[in-house]
Amino acid sequence: MSKYQESFETKGQFFLLRNAEENDAQKMFEFMRHVDSETTFLAREPGEFEASFSLESEAALLKSWSAGEDKLFLVAETKSGEIAATCGCTRNIGRRRTRHLAEIAISVRQDFWRMGLGRRLFQIQFDWCRQKEIEKLCLTVDTENLRALGLYLSLGFVVEGTLKQQAKMPDGSYRDLYTMGKFFR
Ligand SMILES: CC(C)(COP(=O)(O)OP(=O)(O)OC[C@H]1O[C@@H](n2cnc3c(N)ncnc32)[C@H](O)[C@@H]1OP(=O)(O)O)[C@@H](O)C(=O)NCCC(=O)NCCS
Repeated sequence: MSKYQESFETKGQFFLLRNAEENDAQKMFEFMRHVDSETTFLAREPGEFEASFSLESEAALLKSWSAGEDKLFLVAETKSGEIAATCGCTRNIGRRRTRHLAEIAISVRQDFWRMGLGRRLFQIQFDWCRQKEIEKLCLTVDTENLRALGLYLSLGFVVEGTLKQQAKMPDGSYRDLYTMGKFFR
């Protein structure tokens, strides 16, 4: 697919919003280490990312995403070259009945929250969805993740249902998730 690139200025800081590339693999490890230890609202425990990927396999994955037509994986890069946020949107491929669907996921590093990065990355993904004639965008979110819920509701997502005890935490407690959808037609 053609490459996306945008300079984004917010609250006196500059970010480059762009497709992730093969040579971002090392930076992705650093980003994942950060975000997985900052929040319990992502799907992984700290250390799980590093345990399931090598630098080589991560680089291969980023390369295939960047070359493919069915996924847009964006990063927000700081002026000093660190990754501040990632946002991936994946089209449902395979069966014809579900090709109108896509899934989206986002993480922003805590020191860059509330700067509008989440909102801007979603807006870029919405444009991509429209271009790909995707009709419905889906996500899941912890029912206690009020920050993310506020963002998603303000962007036109609706709560479609609750997945009970969908995540089990290390202390044995459970988390419920909302499934949310945004309809483009
Ligand atoms: C949720 C997350 C993606 C938001 O990203 P962000 O870049 O901080 O979001 P933005 O600055 O673009 O937008 C913030 C919007 O969210 C909402 N929001 C922010 N904080 C909020 C809060 N405490 N309560 C309610 N709504 C809140 C508001 O609508 C706000 O919009 P506004 O400031 O323009 O009025 C980010 O906090 C994050 O990555 N958190 C950790 C990982 C995570 O939870 N990922 C989502 C998993 S489903």
